[in-house]
Amino acid sequence: MENQLFQPFTMGQISLDNKIVMAPMTRSRAISNIPNELMAEYYRQRSTAGLIITEGTAPSPNGLGYARIPGIYNQEQIEGWKKITTSVHKQGSKIFLQIMHTGRVSHPLNMEKNASILAPSAIPMKGQMYTDEAGMQDYPSPKAMTTEEILQAEQEFVQASINAIEAGFDGVELHGANGYLIQQFLNPATNQRTDDYGGSIENRARFVLEVADKVASAIGKDRTGIRLSPYGTASEMSLYDDIPSTYAYIAEKLGELGLAYIHTVNQGTVEPSVMSEILATIKAKFKHTVIHNGGFDKTTAIDSISSGKTDLVAFGRPFISNPDFVQRLANNETLNPMDPETLYTPGAKGYTDYPSLNGLK
Ligand SMILES: Cc1cc2nc3c(=O)[nH]c(=O)nc-3n(C[C@H](O)[C@H](O)[C@H](O)COP(=O)(O)O)c2cc1C
Repeated sequence: MENQLFQPFTMGQISLDNKIVMAPMTRSRAISNIPNELMAEYYRQRSTAGLIITEGTAPSPNGLGYARIPGIYNQEQIEGWKKITTSVHKQGSKIFLQIMHTGRVSHPLNMEKNASILAPSAIPMKGQMYTDEAGMQDYPSPKAMTTEEILQAEQEFVQASINAIEAGFDGVELHGANGYLIQQFLNPATNQRTDDYGGSIENRARFVLEVADKVASAIGKDRTGIRLSPYGTASEMSLYDDIPSTYAYIAEKLGELGLAYIHTVNQGTVEPSVMSEILATIKAKFKHTVIHNGGFDKTTAIDSISSGKTDLVAFGRPFISNPDFVQRLANNETLNPMDPETLYTPGAKGYTDYPSLNGLK
């Protein structure tokens, strides 16, 4: 049983050394939004995971909502990412770039001068967000996208994916979870459009399916994965009645496109049985590789794989404080505690200085 987690896995055309995935995690070390040597060292240290999914990365200036997150829309960023893909590949892991368009989760102080905060509808978030320049700030109201802006955003995902391949990534993960632009289209509370992109399930799913189709056509379906958070409430997403039918529909359509994987994140907002049911539906409708994430430990990961609920398991927080998390898991070693104070602070502290058991970094 135990070796289930540590066995190789073939995902489409891509061979993974084990079934352990490092979940995407924003760490805000990309000064001026450009990937750097420090980030290359961080990912290199963790490259015993079968698959690494990078932190959320902006496909365009409009998609860049947070301070110090990386982009993949200019040559300097592409060159920066090459350092990371090279160091990860040397160690044998595969690496996908997570493409995150933040949509309404943004503030002008976190963006370049001419960027716009866009969303399906002009519905602002209620809370505040952090900016380097002026600390916590109210969320501004986003601009409701025109059809032209929707098609432009789709094209940004496509170009970002092409750039990712140029930077040496094995593929991309479209961030359809956690309340960012794609999920803002899916959710009827943030999408109140009356055109082809709002209203019915088919219409709310149109944006994500068009993005997935266009990206898969540009870089290959085997190189295109997606993250979804059914029942997720991060970034003020609300729950709505037809969540099960919405995700059943998307999973089926993404299955027809033949994407590499669907990666689900469980935010623990509903009863475990409700979550299990939707995850089973997604797996049955999609028919390709699925990755589950959210609160797993070794026992639950092995259980989920051996009972056929998922193919791969992604771990997030344990990878932050344990560069050698895969070895620790294999040998049942104690894990380093995570320092929450340094999750998003610039510099090496709490980033590349967590110890590994053999003393090597
Ligand atoms: C510091 C931090 C940053 C995160 N950034 C992202 C992100 O950029 N994209 C994303 O999809 N999820 C992000 N997440 C969510 C994680 O990928 C994961 O879903 C979550 O930590 C639950 O998994 P775990 O219980 O194994 O930690 C982040 C989580 C943490 C702790």
